[in-house]
Amino acid sequence: MTVLSAQNITKTYGGVTALADGSLNVEPGSVHALLGENGAGKSTMVKVLSGTIRPDSGTLTLDGSPVAFHSTADAVGHGVAVVSQELNLFPDLDIIANLFPLREPRRGPFLNRGAMVEAARPILSELGLNVDLRTLVRELSLGQRQLVEICRALLTKPRVLILDEPTSALDRDGSDRLLGILQVLRDRQVGVVFVSHILEEVMQLCDTITVLRDGRTVLSGADRANLEIDDIVSAMLGPRPEAVAAAEAAPRTVRSEIELNLRDVSVDDVLTGVNLQVHAGEIVGVTGLAGAGHLAVLELVAGLRRPTSGTVRLPGDRPVPRGLRRAIGAGVAVVSGDRRGRGLMLDQPIWQNIGQVRSVGLSRDGLVVRGGALRNRARGHVDRLRIRCRDVEQRVGLLSGGNQQKVVLAKWLDASPTVLLLDDPTRGVDVGAKAEIHDLIRTAADDGAVVLLASTDLEELTTACDRVLVFHRGRVVAHLSGSDLDQHTIVRISNTGNGN
Ligand SMILES: Nc1ncnc2c1ncn2[C@@H]1O[C@H](COP(=O)(O)OP(=O)(O)OP(=O)(O)O)[C@@H](O)[C@H]1O
Ligand SMILES: [Mg+2]
Repeated sequence: MTVLSAQNITKTYGGVTALADGSLNVEPGSVHALLGENGAGKSTMVKVLSGTIRPDSGTLTLDGSPVAFHSTADAVGHGVAVVSQELNLFPDLDIIANLFPLREPRRGPFLNRGAMVEAARPILSELGLNVDLRTLVRELSLGQRQLVEICRALLTKPRVLILDEPTSALDRDGSDRLLGILQVLRDRQVGVVFVSHILEEVMQLCDTITVLRDGRTVLSGADRANLEIDDIVSAMLGPRPEAVAAAEAAPRTVRSEIELNLRDVSVDDVLTGVNLQVHAGEIVGVTGLAGAGHLAVLELVAGLRRPTSGTVRLPGDRPVPRGLRRAIGAGVAVVSGDRRGRGLMLDQPIWQNIGQVRSVGLSRDGLVVRGGALRNRARGHVDRLRIRCRDVEQRVGLLSGGNQQKVVLAKWLDASPTVLLLDDPTRGVDVGAKAEIHDLIRTAADDGAVVLLASTDLEELTTACDRVLVFHRGRVVAHLSGSDLDQHTIVRISNTGNGN
């Protein structure tokens, strides 16, 4: 029994084929994972299913009858709700106004805000968002906005709920809550489509799996119980030339001089007596629960915060200049997985975005002369990171979410930073590209950069870092390395604060 079905969907944009022959069936009471590499066509399929775009060809059926949604609102009217990858909220309106954009319960001529609050509050608290509903959306963090968007979809009481990378902006607690809610919806016979690059949560949650590769369905509605993560990865990546396993054995080049030095650093209510020394060539992870203080360390080094006491020194024993712009001038790079905070010029070509940081130092007419060189460098990054695009002239705004994230990385790596600050650098990036990005980070370290890596991805912390510092309530409570550096230990200490 299929409630919503897309068959043999094609969609092209100019010369780019986003979906070549994509199919997906949504069953009630079942969670269907839609997987594939960055640019494979997942969001395009989501947009077709939810009425955001019309396909070039192919059929959409609802309860067995052909249907064409004219808009997402039309789809909602048919019981199909979507949480899109790029959030669609009005930043200057409050939470309540965003939750009821089209279907406000009305009392006489006035909007009945009381009824809205009553309807929204239990859902938001189940999602873990406990803020005043009159808060403007622009004052919310990315994760909080994601929860508002999820709540908005849930309020429509959909029969089919489609979520495009809903957990990529959420912390562990938020993700766990959402997965719990989706299980409840499944029990209530809702059909759920779930797009994610986090394969562990996919295996935990989903009943069936469809994999797209280059816009084609290469695994169609397969039973999760019959699949291992390796099977899914193989389907996603397809046949690939053998990876060169040469650099593996090269010894680590950690040098003895300390390049980044935090001595007895405190920030009121945020950090207490933090000592952190990083050598050139080292990748040091920092982690903890939300608000534990590890992200404040990155902000201190980026010039976004000043310590109340203690000292922070950059390579060459220099102080941190005030403000992000000056810190960047001093060789600091800040890569964030936060889609909004990544500072891409969406309507500019890829090559200009990649050359952006590096060309800050070049004179105005120098930039014109160097256009060709910047394009060439950009092409190198596009190849290395496998950024899926037509060519480097393509506007960044037209790339898929994960490919935009790769451009952010390329931009910062291109500037050859001496201090590389990474905050969830591979959010939304597929498994294949993730390993390559970790290699590139390692190369930057081998070239002498100091790397601080904050991540909510435990596997990233344990595989990409030389050592990891766990924060709890503003203090460093554990230094993990070697055999102590494992996911279980990180979770235990993050939650308990007990490093012994
Ligand atoms: N409006 C558009 N104009 C041009 N190309 C587009 C447009 N939308 C998508 N594409 C292209 O279609 C392809 C599929 O994109 P899509 O967003 O569906 O990928 P995805 O599987 O969701 O990837 P990700 O995991 O990175 O989110 C990509 O190559 C993308 O660049
Ligand atoms: Mg996408």
